[in-house]
Amino acid sequence: MKRERPVVSALQKFAEKEPLSWHVPGHKNGLLSNLPLTIKEALTYDLTELAGLDDFHHPEEAIAQAEMLLAKAYQVNRSFFLVNGSTVGNLAMIYATCKRNEKIIVQRNAHKSIFHALELVGAKAIFVAPVWDAATATAGAVPASTLHEALQLHPDAKAVVLTYPTYYGVAGEDLRLQIKMCHELGIPVLVDEAHGAHFIASDTFPSSSVQLGADVVVQSAHKTLPAMTMASFLHVNSALIDAEKINHYLRMLQSSSPSYLLLASLDDARDYIDSYLERDAAYLKDKRNQWVEGLRAIQPLQVIEVDDPLKLLLRFPGYTGFQLKEVLEAQGIYVELADPYQVLFILPLLKHGQTYPFAEARIRIKEAILNLRKIEANIIQTVASSNENTTVSTPEFSYDELEQLDKEWVPYMRAIGRVSASMLIPYPPGIPLFLPGEKITVAKLSQLEELLAVGAAFQGQHRLNEKLIYVIK
Ligand SMILES: Cc1ncc(COP(=O)(O)O)c(C=O)c1O
Repeated sequence: MKRERPVVSALQKFAEKEPLSWHVPGHKNGLLSNLPLTIKEALTYDLTELAGLDDFHHPEEAIAQAEMLLAKAYQVNRSFFLVNGSTVGNLAMIYATCKRNEKIIVQRNAHKSIFHALELVGAKAIFVAPVWDAATATAGAVPASTLHEALQLHPDAKAVVLTYPTYYGVAGEDLRLQIKMCHELGIPVLVDEAHGAHFIASDTFPSSSVQLGADVVVQSAHKTLPAMTMASFLHVNSALIDAEKINHYLRMLQSSSPSYLLLASLDDARDYIDSYLERDAAYLKDKRNQWVEGLRAIQPLQVIEVDDPLKLLLRFPGYTGFQLKEVLEAQGIYVELADPYQVLFILPLLKHGQTYPFAEARIRIKEAILNLRKIEANIIQTVASSNENTTVSTPEFSYDELEQLDKEWVPYMRAIGRVSASMLIPYPPGIPLFLPGEKITVAKLSQLEELLAVGAAFQGQHRLNEKLIYVIK
């Protein structure tokens, strides 16, 4: 297969001309920058929309070719490069399908960018609750029966927004069926596949939602492909949604000065996945399995595998994930996240022959475990699962109504039965515990207390250091 990277080539060609910069950016090809040399060198390629480098919002040359190669790789009608993460893809797909006060069915354990989109659009959210995934102790996928119920109750919904897989690599089982159910009603399915850009690489991964028939799919190339942070993809493959409408919103929501480092990195990441072979997948599987076996031999470490083989959870009985993370960091092992139970590792999408310090990591993990044993265990009872959300629910108030209502700060222990005025998000993984307009229940408050007790961090509008949360008056 002939390998092409149109944006990378265009940048190289441009830089070879040793151009004199009389344009933005102000670092003048890095000349005025005081950054450390290794960073400064990359600025030679931090160019702008100059001759031969195309126009991000109206691509006709290198960017257009690169996006066409992307669409071909994922076998979809149209693909877009995103320079503001999956966040901007999630915003654009919701803007393109739903207007103020129109209904949209949304998986309750979605990323905050989805909820931000709902608020910005002023959509009428219908939440569908996921099942509790016992293996990972996290919220998993939405069962088809719950989506079916929501579709029966709200056949006038403009779209269904699902998250696949979850942050923890849980894919669920019946996405194809769910998409079919929606399409029978003429409802498009928008999938936040931020954590699944690598799924098309091989059958050793779950199927990608682009292969399962989703209308719009957003992927953080930067999460599992070798792309720079913020570099993401959006794919449109739909008889129900016009790709131009998505493009319209992307033009509004994305910068008019896109980073060419990000664009080149997206082009490179597409090439990486496009040239991923079965022998690469077999090699990765082999390396991974050996490592997992080695970890299992460290007693009593618990190794939990999930649907996505690039994700792996480690637990140490009696200790929280936060404690485990701390001792791992002391050994120079930096994981993706910790929660009350475990830490989450994201493995590299290796190709045949590439090496990664698996053996070294195992030694350090073993050392970290020895150190963990010296610390007092912070035994947690199970943090109340958030599975108490009813299967299909709507917030007590719309975004418009919420804006008009008076709000106040109250001690969270006195907030039972009140309606939340803000989002409260344990971070990571960034899935909201309370959403604006939702009733605050005993179970949710217990979950908050337990999360605070084990040292979880929170985002959103809160004053938790004073034990206060924001509610409707
Ligand atoms: C499920 C999910 N969707 C969307 C996002 C946002 O992606 P990005 O960081 O690429 O904007 C994240 C980020 O962690 C995520 O976990």
